[in-house]
Amino acid sequence: MLQLSMNKECGTNLISNRNFTYGRVDIVMKTASGSGAVTALVLMGPSPSDEIDIEFVGKDPTNFQSMYFVKGLRIDQQAGFHSSSPSSDLSASFHTYSFELTATAVNWYIDNSLVRSLKKSSDSTFPTAAGNFRMGVWDGSNTSGWAGTVDWSSSPKVAYIKSIKYNPYC
Ligand SMILES: *[C@@H]1O[C@H](CO)[C@@H](O)[C@H](O)[C@H]1NC(C)=O
Ligand SMILES: *[C@@H]1O[C@H](CO)[C@@H](O)[C@H](O)[C@H]1NC(C)=O
Repeated sequence: MLQLSMNKECGTNLISNRNFTYGRVDIVMKTASGSGAVTALVLMGPSPSDEIDIEFVGKDPTNFQSMYFVKGLRIDQQAGFHSSSPSSDLSASFHTYSFELTATAVNWYIDNSLVRSLKKSSDSTFPTAAGNFRMGVWDGSNTSGWAGTVDWSSSPKVAYIKSIKYNPYC
């Protein structure tokens, strides 16, 4: 079991040393629990970055947020919110989270159910150069209320990763 943790000084980031053009990554994990803790699964490219995210904030343990950026810009202002079925505390049990980048779509999944699909309609609104997978746990206390504030006296801030399936299509 891989454990990614954070403390008062720093978080942890795991960065793939390979990149794909298109592909899919499936992560089986329990997210870090507690207000302020952010668990992030990211596909990104070189700066200014195209980016595809699955993010979890400890203050809202039943949802994950799907987001994407094109050349560092948010195209949709709103994140998508997705829960397991039935809805559950995602830090309390293992679930499978997946994102997939193809030439024509970005897909987000939980437990192999498709919960969001972004179809390509133009180059300027679609994240294409996002082939570097990384994941981490970090302190989101300074994100103006998005993640909540960390209480360091409560439980350790650890994400437990049972498996990562890295599936490049190229
Ligand atoms: C993979 O992509 C990242 C982010 O764009 C970049 O920093 C890194 O150099 C790339 N690695 C390879 C082997 O091309
Ligand atoms: C939050 O902001 C304060 C004030 O700028 C800074 O001292 C602190 O290190 C920041 N904490 C994190 C986790 O970024």
